[in-house]
This record gives sequence, structure tokens and C-alpha cells, in this order.
Amino acid sequence: MRRFPDDFLWGVATSAFQIEGALDADGRGRSIWDGFAGESGDTGDVACDHYRRWRNDVELLGELGVNAYRFSLAWPRLFPTGRAPLEPRGLAHYDRLIDALLERGIEPVVTLFHWDLPQALQDEGGWRNRDTVEAFAEYARTCFDAYGDRVRRWITINEPWVHGILGHFDGIHAPGEKDLRGAVQAIHHLLLAHGRAAQELRSGETGIAFSLFPTYPASDDDADREAAWICDGYHNRWFLDAVLKGSYPDDMRELFAQRVGPLEFVLDGDLDTIAGGDFVGVNYYSRGVVRAAPGKQPFPYEVVSAREMNVPLTDGGYEIAPTALTDLLVRLRADYGDIPILITENGAIYRGAPHDPGRVAFLDSHLRAVHDAIEQGVPVRGYFHWSFMDNFEWALGYEPRFGLVHVDYETQARTVKDSGRHYGEIARSNAL
Ligand code: FCB
Repeated sequence: MRRFPDDFLWGVATSAFQIEGALDADGRGRSIWDGFAGESGDTGDVACDHYRRWRNDVELLGELGVNAYRFSLAWPRLFPTGRAPLEPRGLAHYDRLIDALLERGIEPVVTLFHWDLPQALQDEGGWRNRDTVEAFAEYARTCFDAYGDRVRRWITINEPWVHGILGHFDGIHAPGEKDLRGAVQAIHHLLLAHGRAAQELRSGETGIAFSLFPTYPASDDDADREAAWICDGYHNRWFLDAVLKGSYPDDMRELFAQRVGPLEFVLDGDLDTIAGGDFVGVNYYSRGVVRAAPGKQPFPYEVVSAREMNVPLTDGGYEIAPTALTDLLVRLRADYGDIPILITENGAIYRGAPHDPGRVAFLDSHLRAVHDAIEQGVPVRGYFHWSFMDNFEWALGYEPRFGLVHVDYETQARTVKDSGRHYGEIARSNAL
């Protein structure tokens, strides 16, 4: 039997736009994801109708047996135009949600920005515009003032790589732009927004959630090793070094400058601001095996497709790679010191419901991986499974199912899957 540390957080995670629906309710303003249909053609108009069904969903969280819940606030519900005036109905909604969680002994872990930027701010350039950072700091301060007496842990920004790159370079996420320079600029401002929010905090703890993607060279050749190092720089080091060391890695600064010109939007003092926060959030889904690919954009490498490698896959086609999670956590401590870590997301697409043996096995192997890291001295304080329930998976719509709870989108009925019961037992016993 593997026991976890006392006070370990056993949570599940969601984000506002992926579950709430009710986009016109209570004075909410538009966000960049409103009406943004990716390749699936689906939109978040209804999603899980959680904005209306939240009381039932909180009951369900209680029944599952988790002791923490990570969710995001919709910025456009609090500030419909991104800035004052504040919409009191939006504020009151999350106030009730937080109280209901606490009544059931569930710790609310609150994300401030999970991609649903107010459209009014996008109209002024969104995250490419440095002014958005100050709008975010004001929004963060308002949330700290309103809920900080009950919320201890705050996630400032969710996955600046994904929002920055998929939204501003690949164009497959909102706002749908395709410009690497704009993406690097947006990422810089997202990191700066994290730092500014951390400065505004008066009590509690902040952390940023990174989409970390451990890389492994496809062979021992120098070219593949170099390729894996660049891929690591692009996905991981750019973010980790900035927040945890207060500097961007020199090799990547140079590579970006070669591709997009001088990064003159990085001003003196910015990295001191960025280097803030009390813990780091790790979102982990899979690893990358990387080989050199001269001429490939934006950098000369490619990630070997999991199907090509003859490795176990989730139903979403990603490699199931739990030991890479242990490696990643051990590396974080080795390279960046003893900063507390929350696994803010980990999960997978599996089709079955209510019987989902694949997800049950995925959970077990990844929790063992986390436990292995803890035994090696890595200060992991909690684990949040993505996701509490099936939801709107961005550009992929409703087809991929990540939930511990099944959602029937016709009736909005929720059914706990086998994995949900299994996870609840682990959470309750604090052991695997
Ligand atoms: C992460 C996102 C989250 C969800 C999972 C599957 O990149 O943070 O919202 O879409 O992937």
C-alpha cells in the first residue's frame, strides 16, 4: 500500500468555459471563445449547463469524495468588458459556489484565467497588448478581495504555452491568430500577468499552471539530442526559467530572435516581476520523443507520433507515459529547487461509460508515478484529475471524453464512471 502525505489535496479540475454554458446569463460579457468553433464545429453555448446546475454538481463532488476542486472564474462574468464596472451577479455566483464547496469540506482552488478573455480586451489587441496585464491585475485584486478570506490557493494563468501558441500561432484556439511574434509577445504578457497577480495577493498562495511536456531524444545522435533540448526550451524551459529563475534561457532567446526579430517587448524589470508565486502547477498529459527535422517550423525538430512508436495509447492517441511524469517531477526539483508542486491537471480521453477500465488503469499508473516522485523527495502537495466531468474540449468539441463523470449532452444527466468511484476511494483513504 502506498500512502500519500497528510493534507494531500485530492481534487478534480474543470474550467468555466468548458462547463458553464449560459453565456448570456447575469450580464456576462462576450469572451474570445464565444462562438469560436474549432474543427469540431461545436461551441460552448450550452456545455454542461453547469452555471445553472452548479448546486447538483457540488453535491456530486461531495459524493465522489474529493477534498479539493479546481475551477476557473469567468473573467467576463465579473468584468463584462474586461475592466470596471464590476458585475455583482457574476461576483455573487462564485461566492455561492465557494461557500457550497466549503460546506462540504472541499477546498476551492481557483484559476483566474483559463482562456476566456473578455472580447472587449481582445478588440484592443488582447494578450499582445501590454495593457491587458494591468486589466488582469485589477481583476485578480478584485477576486482576492472578494474571496480571499475563503480561498487559499490561486492559479493565476492556465497554460501560457497552449493559449499563446495554439491561440496566436497555430490559430486553432481562440483568438485564432497565426503569427509567431504575436504569440511570443502574448506569452510574455501572460507571464507578466502571473507576476503582477502574485504581487497583488495579500494572503494565501499563487501559482501558475504550465503544460509541461518532457522530451526525450529519439536516438543518441547529437542532432536528436539537440532537437529534444530545443523542444524542451520551447515548451518547458522558457516558462520554468522565467518564473522560477527570473530569466529566459539564452539559447531560446536567440532562437526566437532569429525567427521573429528582437523581443523588445521584454522590458527591464519584467523578469523580476514574472519570478513570483508560491507553488508551481503541473499539467501533465504525455511526453514527447523528439528527432531532428531540418527546416521544420518553428524550430528544426519533430515529435515522433505515438502511433509510430508501438507504445500503449489512450483513446485520444497519446502515449500513456507515467514514468515520464516521475522524471519530470524529479527534474523540477533538481533544476529549480524545493518549490511546492500541485499536479493541476492529469487525465486522458477514454470512451467507455460507465465502465472505463482504461481510465482506471491510467489513474493508478499516474498516481504511482506521483508517489514515486514524492518518495524521492519532490514536494508534491496535491493532484487534480482532469476532468471532473466530460466537457467542451476546445477545438475538439464534445467528442473526446475526459471525465470521471459521464455527461449525456441531450439530457444533461450525470453518471459517475467506474474511474470516478475508484478515484473517490483513493481520495478517501489517502492511499493507493
Ligand atoms: C489542457 C487544458 C484543459 C483541458 C485539457 C484536456 O490543455 O488546460 O482545459 O482542455 O488540456
